[in-house]
Amino acid sequence: MTAIDDTTTDLPFYMKGNYAPVAEEVEAVDLDIVGALPPELSGRFFRNGANPSGEPPAHWFDGDGMLHGIRLRDGRAEWYRNRWVRTKLLAGEERFDPETFEFDLSAGRANTHVIRHAGRILAVEEGSFPMEVSPDLETLGSVDFGGVLDTPFTAHPHVCAETGEMHFFGYELVSEPHATYYVADASGQITHRQPINVPSPVMMHDFAISRNHAIFLDLPVVFDIDLAMTGGMPFEWKPSNGSRIGLLDRRNVGSSTPAQPRWFDIDSCYVFHILNAWEEDDGNVVVLDAGRHSSMWDGSPDAFEPCYLWRWRFDLRTGAVTETQLDDVEHAFPRIDDRRTGLANRYGWAVTNRPGETSSLDAATGVVKYDVVNDSKSFHDFGPGRSTSEPVFVPASDGAGEDEGWIMSFVYDPATNSSEFTVLDATDMAAEPVATVALPQRVPNGFHGSWFAD
Ligand SMILES: [Fe+2]
Repeated sequence: MTAIDDTTTDLPFYMKGNYAPVAEEVEAVDLDIVGALPPELSGRFFRNGANPSGEPPAHWFDGDGMLHGIRLRDGRAEWYRNRWVRTKLLAGEERFDPETFEFDLSAGRANTHVIRHAGRILAVEEGSFPMEVSPDLETLGSVDFGGVLDTPFTAHPHVCAETGEMHFFGYELVSEPHATYYVADASGQITHRQPINVPSPVMMHDFAISRNHAIFLDLPVVFDIDLAMTGGMPFEWKPSNGSRIGLLDRRNVGSSTPAQPRWFDIDSCYVFHILNAWEEDDGNVVVLDAGRHSSMWDGSPDAFEPCYLWRWRFDLRTGAVTETQLDDVEHAFPRIDDRRTGLANRYGWAVTNRPGETSSLDAATGVVKYDVVNDSKSFHDFGPGRSTSEPVFVPASDGAGEDEGWIMSFVYDPATNSSEFTVLDATDMAAEPVATVALPQRVPNGFHGSWFAD
């Protein structure tokens, strides 16, 4: 494979380098492995991302969803394949009806994350309904939970480690309520739905759960209809909107008169991604760890302030909030052992850059492992020029300890314009990968992924 031709400088950044889409859907079987795949890894690693099928979209986030998947079993890499999600938009249909001013929520990009709940694999993007795909990456169709879902569906639902419930929300820009909170039980049926009163149409990319709370982010990236009408980025940085975090008591879920969140004002910032949340002091303190940007898109859709790990502590007795920067290493795509969702975690993993390199994902050369209990960290560096996708933690067994398992990602090498699937030992970040699997084509910079064990 040859290096990418980057001389076409009039293209936006997300059409160049390893942000550029791939043109083909391919498949390869019985892939070559360097090292040894742990034999207990039996399942599928899927990752989603924007892969425009035609003309460049107005923003990186608006490209057609493409899934890249690899199937592992018995120490073998049985197959790799990539598939666009067959959305209405990919087929050329419109999502907005100019006569009724309504959006077709079954028409989205399905490009941001891929998750599994109650046996269904869902490709999700925050402006529309989920798209169900098969274990072989074939698109099965739009999902509206029997008609109960009537808003967009977040790209970041969270499954409670204790109940198996999937907690999620949808945010709406042009009509109120601007957010709606849902709970689906472990069988995949929506059992709770309630509006969340958010004053302005803000971008809410993620949220969190703790044992007793659902946690909402009302932060000042605000939708602007005039910007939207220009066809460009429809959000602006508007710190006058305020920054606040809402804690909704999950014990109130199911009430005929569900309560609204209790809102806590915080310093102006933006958060795309939560690391985790949990409770301390007999549930009187809620702790939230997340990636904090001091601002977002301030004056330009390309203005992207670096992201650092911060902690907020909300004291439910006094209403006090403390805000603390936990670390000074820039990161993106923070993940935990999902078995700790809503419970105190010790470890987290995220993409990071070599010090002094830009915040472009092309420079995402490594993975940082945070130990938030001992206030320490370690790194894996994939080598000069190489870049990694989001690190996904996979436990070695059901009973394994919090970091006893593997970190999976796709790693791109610009020198050969090729990608590998890589497995790291999550307990020993500095060690060489335990396995790398050669892939038949590069995997572009993308968004989020998951491991689906058999
Ligand atoms: Fe995300």
